[in-house]
Amino acid sequence: MTWPLWALCALTSVASATSPLQNVQPYAVTGDAIEKSLTGQAGDAKRGAELIQQRHKSLCVLCHSGPFPDPHLQGTLAPDLTGIGERLSAGQLRLRIVDTKRLNPASIMPTYYGVIANDKDTRVADGWRNKPVLTAEEIEDLVAYLQTLRR
Ligand code: HEC
Repeated sequence: MTWPLWALCALTSVASATSPLQNVQPYAVTGDAIEKSLTGQAGDAKRGAELIQQRHKSLCVLCHSGPFPDPHLQGTLAPDLTGIGERLSAGQLRLRIVDTKRLNPASIMPTYYGVIANDKDTRVADGWRNKPVLTAEEIEDLVAYLQTLRR
């Protein structure tokens, strides 16, 4: 059966009206950084410190180690984040959390501010589909916290 054009148009407009991309606001990349806060405000370092340890939400310590509690629960797949606030600026940290694949398409680090499509090729667990992994506020909290990490 072939669909009439009007039917396709109707379907497309329904899809875009409920698009998960609504949860991701545009941002500008300059060099290897996103200079502007995603929320227009500074994040809360204390909330960021809590979030980075939440293995079931931020996932960071599945791969990274750093000066966080419970070292035996931290990962070894990724660079240690000790002193990262001295090596990377806020803008550089932001881009790495938002979408590190822009710098290294082969990176295993998830894109945190992007939407994982819900299709047959991506077997992502239901709770993670069709929305960014973290909100803009949560990313700003992490950026604020990581900036405090000095050796
Ligand atoms: C699945 C593993 C994985 C997860 C989960 C992950 N990362 Fe990463 N991350 C990496 C790897 C691997 C790198 C090294 C760079 C690359 O792959 O291009 C990296 C790089 C980084 C860097 C740059 C480090 C440097 O020395 O330059 C920062 C900052 C960072 N991650 C922060 C985070 C934060 C914050 C989270 C949680 C919100 C997180 N990562 C979650 C794997 C991960």
